Amino acid sequence: MPKIYLTTPLYYVNDQPHLGHAYTTILADVLTRFYKMAGYETFFLTGTDEHGQKIADAAKQRNKTPLQHCDEMVLKFKSLWEKLNIGYDDFIRTTESRHISVVNQALQNLYEKGDIYKSSYTGWYCVPDERFWTEKDLVDGNCPDCGRKVEKLEEDNYFFRMSAYQDWLIQYIREHPRFIEPETRKNEILGFLSKPLNDLCISRPSNRLSWGIPLPFDPQYVCYVWFDALLNYITSPGYLTDQEGFQKWWPADYHLIGKDIVTTHGVFWPIMLKALEIEPPHTIFAHGWWLIEETKMSKSLGNVVSPEYLISEFGVDQFRYFIMREMALGQDASFSIESIIDRINMDLANDFGNLASRILTMIRRYRQNKLPEALENGGPEEALITSSNRLPDEVFGLIREMKIHLALDRIISAVRDTNRYIESSAPWELARTKQDKKLDTVLYTATEVLRKIALLLYPVMPEKIERLREFLNSREEITLTSARKWGILQPGTAVDHKEILFPRIEKALHKTEPETPKKMETPKKTDYLTFEEFKKLDIRIAEVLTAEKVPDTKNLLRLEIDLGTEKRTIVAGLAKYYQPQEFVGKKIVVLANLQPANLHGIISEGMLLAAEGEDTVKLLTIEGDIPPGSRIR
Ligand code: MSP
Repeated sequence: MPKIYLTTPLYYVNDQPHLGHAYTTILADVLTRFYKMAGYETFFLTGTDEHGQKIADAAKQRNKTPLQHCDEMVLKFKSLWEKLNIGYDDFIRTTESRHISVVNQALQNLYEKGDIYKSSYTGWYCVPDERFWTEKDLVDGNCPDCGRKVEKLEEDNYFFRMSAYQDWLIQYIREHPRFIEPETRKNEILGFLSKPLNDLCISRPSNRLSWGIPLPFDPQYVCYVWFDALLNYITSPGYLTDQEGFQKWWPADYHLIGKDIVTTHGVFWPIMLKALEIEPPHTIFAHGWWLIEETKMSKSLGNVVSPEYLISEFGVDQFRYFIMREMALGQDASFSIESIIDRINMDLANDFGNLASRILTMIRRYRQNKLPEALENGGPEEALITSSNRLPDEVFGLIREMKIHLALDRIISAVRDTNRYIESSAPWELARTKQDKKLDTVLYTATEVLRKIALLLYPVMPEKIERLREFLNSREEITLTSARKWGILQPGTAVDHKEILFPRIEKALHKTEPETPKKMETPKKTDYLTFEEFKKLDIRIAEVLTAEKVPDTKNLLRLEIDLGTEKRTIVAGLAKYYQPQEFVGKKIVVLANLQPANLHGIISEGMLLAAEGEDTVKLLTIEGDIPPGSRIR
């Protein structure tokens, strides 16, 4: 069985996780799920980086011991990963004894070999980055990495003889084109290595920093946090403790990282491994940054976006889809609320969600929720069958090339093709003209393509796809093989459309700026509705059963209404003008076939009609008695 070992960086626990952390972790989860579907045995490692100055300072600020602080912060990471459905195999903390023991043995080994030596050192120290720089490294007297102030320090320290391995590393990178990806990052590292490589200071005197792993050969010092943390990638699969596990999983296939930590992973780490006589990882893959208006999103700049907020506002799977679709792996991507709403509305509500709901609604309407049989395949069906049988391998090919956004684009274009197939076959016409066999064929073909496409979206949106599989009553294994096969859904299967999977999101509800007042205008002739268009409006009388304010909103009311044939929930922006109890028992007028929308987490299925005055709003009601459900014509 082929196998794959993927890692995320170990996140610093000085603060809460943000969008950047969520991104790498979701990426690892999505890749793992895709490879699993392709029959790989997978191992996905994540965790937290808990030693060093940054963490000690954060703990001090909160009046906690460093370990207390870490214990609390780790829970925030774990709970976010749970909300995001991250299926990691191991979560490692650098404060765990299994890890400390590996760090100790690695240090001792390198010390005995002579690769670690003591020397006096004068340098410039960047506290936030915890790195020493030489005079010539500085940019305008500041840290070349983060641009912040540096302090001059002179002290005795231990050094790791990196310089001895410089030539080996250059040659290794040249001979292994996939070792550092993408190409730009590889060239950056080769550029860095074109200058003489300094030995790496791997200790901090414990009187200056005590929060770290003491050096086994000199407890007056603790280990430099990066030297400690990188070793996690071999601790977890069992280096020195589980020979079989280690042999099975090492070398890692992908270390997924952000582009700001390429030097540590592309230079320090392979040299540490070489010195320890361990094979280097297969690929170090660096993604770009999430930017907010051209600036990197980061805690120190105070412009971070909370993943929890995005999950509660837009849904877990919608968020996962957005960040996978929006970022071309390797390049930077801009984040904005507008872009996430557009993406969800376009790809998920209009294309994929709409495909699922129109197919299932037609099977309900024309075939009483029973999947019919395809007995009249013609050219369009054959074309869809062939392309959907090919789709899984095309998509997985793009995943292997780390082109996740293109893989998703390919899937959505298959969704669009299927929507076009429905439009051109016009099942509603086939039903009207009683072409039963053709109608059955179209309904079956579209459903089977939907099943296959849904499987391919599973790694990105596991919850929604599980739900859709319940609608389709499809229980086959979630594998690429099932996605390649045609005809898994059996005619006669009971299917059902239980809810809208991806309600459209109203932009207006997510904007912070005030709305511009609307001007009253007489409609132009070209704005007239045709009678056919008017007939599409399903305006009906409904009776309000219950009404209540939507918590944490100024103007929203949630109404349960009786539409004669069914009960529904609608959300109306009328709390400024009406008390909730004024609605109960009233007969109101509702546009019943408006596309459902997610308003503050509530799916509103229809729109209440009201008249807008200068500074008032009045409800449309009906004169006299008429039962709920009556249509307005
Ligand atoms: N603790 C080290 C990693 C040690 S690995 C042995 C570390 N931690 S971190 O919490 O600061 O960052 C973790 C990851 O988040 C990095 O890969 C970093 O690139 C990523 N991101 C932080 N901000 C980011 C964005 N704005 N956008 C995308 N990812 C970014 O570094």
